[in-house]
Amino acid sequence: MSSRIRLLGALSALLLGSVAAHADTIKVGVIGPMSGPYSLYGQNFQWGVQAYAQVNGKTADGHDVEFVFRDLPGVDPAKARALAQELVVRDGVQYLAGAYFTPNALAIAPLLQQGKVPFVVLNAATSSIVEQSPYILRTSFTMWQNTVPAAKVAIENGSKKAITIVSDYGPGVDAEAGFKKTYEEGGGELVETLRVPLSTTDFNPLVQRIKQSGADTVFAFFPAGAPTLGFMKSYIGNGLKEDGIKLISTGDLLTEPDLPALGDVAIGTQSTYHYSASHDSPENKAFMEALKAVGADPSKVTMAAVAAFDGAKLIYEMIDATDGEQDPQKAVDAVKGMSWESPRGPVTIDPDTRHITQNVYLREVAKEGDTYMNKEIRTFEAQPDWGLEGK
Ligand code: PHB
Repeated sequence: MSSRIRLLGALSALLLGSVAAHADTIKVGVIGPMSGPYSLYGQNFQWGVQAYAQVNGKTADGHDVEFVFRDLPGVDPAKARALAQELVVRDGVQYLAGAYFTPNALAIAPLLQQGKVPFVVLNAATSSIVEQSPYILRTSFTMWQNTVPAAKVAIENGSKKAITIVSDYGPGVDAEAGFKKTYEEGGGELVETLRVPLSTTDFNPLVQRIKQSGADTVFAFFPAGAPTLGFMKSYIGNGLKEDGIKLISTGDLLTEPDLPALGDVAIGTQSTYHYSASHDSPENKAFMEALKAVGADPSKVTMAAVAAFDGAKLIYEMIDATDGEQDPQKAVDAVKGMSWESPRGPVTIDPDTRHITQNVYLREVAKEGDTYMNKEIRTFEAQPDWGLEGK
């Protein structure tokens, strides 16, 4: 072989090598409830991620992006940890995303530093989660972020005495604290604070207690799913509204897929939240189209889908910024302070907290034709995570 041919061979090998480096696959592990009572929300994670790939393609900066989904049906920190470990060590994922429940997100956090893996939280809403690792970003919401506006609305509606009822774990405790602080600062009196086990399904006795509390308003939080539907049915069935006890909550209690089961009696119920499937914007219309294109049922779209859509955006940006290399600090730094127009409205990744700053909307349950929706009637602009403010 002439030296010239050898040189050509070496050159083409080099070229092929660099092509191969760009055609590599970057894996992203997504952990969420794909089965069981909360599976709708895991399904929404999947729809959101797929919708992002539908619009933006399956490559980021020339790298193939592969999302690997793992099922974690409920609150199970040990399993969360095991799944995350397995994804990082065995499957070689370069990014983690997901976590519907706070305790699961907290269990994953200690693995990130050593695994060199950024983690985009797609739901878990306790403020302190982002403080557990510099590699955590969050595209969902926090209880403080949505609850502070809820308490302001209660005060503005003329409420003088309120009672709170929350699930007794991280986000419930945050919601109670956020409501208490804002409501009391507004001159309201909190007459009672109830905390119930996460497993509570029969809310009738509790609703009776709320009735007897002397409060004119109840603020409630449970994780979206069976508990929220159970509470709403008890609230409606026991006639609290007719008795003059108003409900104010975050949107977790009124996700769109549950509205048909509540029926016309829920019309007019107010809540505060960062996303409604009916949000009126070109970005949300395009998002809904992308969701339909990947087979999503539009009547089952929730906050978990938009968190996953925006979470996938962050991951693509991080892959781009690091040219596919495993450099978690560089990746996270690249998206700090990033702003864009999400299907929910304008958003920014707060460079200090790595949590998403976003509008929170006051909504009212409405019915247009046969469709129930959370109609947005007012905007609290650019809300930070009030739970981390001043920290
Ligand atoms: C949580 O565990 O952080 C959580 C779960 C469901 C929600 C809100 C918060 O709707």
